[in-house]
Amino acid sequence: MLDYRIAPSILSADFARLGEEVDAVLEAGADMVHFDVMDNHYVPNLTIGPMVCEALRNWGVEAPIDVHLMVSPVDGLIESFARAGASWITFHPEASAHPDRSLQLVRDLGCKSGLVFNPGTPLHWLEYLAEKVDMILIMSVNPGFGGQQFIPSALRKIEEARRLIDDSGLSIRLEVDGGIKVDNIAAVARAGADTFVAGSAIFGSGDYASTITAMRRELAGSYAED
Ligand code: DX5
Ligand code: ZN
Repeated sequence: MLDYRIAPSILSADFARLGEEVDAVLEAGADMVHFDVMDNHYVPNLTIGPMVCEALRNWGVEAPIDVHLMVSPVDGLIESFARAGASWITFHPEASAHPDRSLQLVRDLGCKSGLVFNPGTPLHWLEYLAEKVDMILIMSVNPGFGGQQFIPSALRKIEEARRLIDDSGLSIRLEVDGGIKVDNIAAVARAGADTFVAGSAIFGSGDYASTITAMRRELAGSYAED
């Protein structure tokens, strides 16, 4: 597995200087921008919406924007984020009345689709939906806040998702989100993840480039040990 991608979560960026923060983290070697959308309904926090996504595009951000919707309902915001320049749009299946329709909507609007699984949510939603999914996102914390501790049972779920992807023969990325740091990213890669969200570990560090470089070194090491 060589195509590892690092996706800093801008939830931990300085919102007063968001454009500069995104430029800095991309300059430091990030592959994509993880954009956390919280509605104070599906999760107990309120963050940023499509206008901020569009503002980043207008600022000149060309990297993929990975929109993680922690909202209910989801369909209206899927449309708004597709118009605002999102590249990926992921949502929590239980937050949509009709997840099959929501996945189709994401693809029809020209974006890559994804389903997100909370620590307590089983993967069985994929049984009839995998064909419409471009990314599976395993939450390794309960959604709502940055800076939480990695929940170890996520490793088992990542392994299960990796088996499911490999057995299906489908091209689906496997992302993990929550509590990812330099010192656990290799274990998460060994479990089968290929895309790594990290918020506080990157934006909370003094030097974004050295943190991302250290993560890549760990990822290269995890590959060598396989
Ligand atoms: C949590 C968000 C995460 C969060 C990750 O609800 O989905 O993307 O920002 O932050 P860290 O890396 O600090 O756990
Ligand atoms: Zn997220």
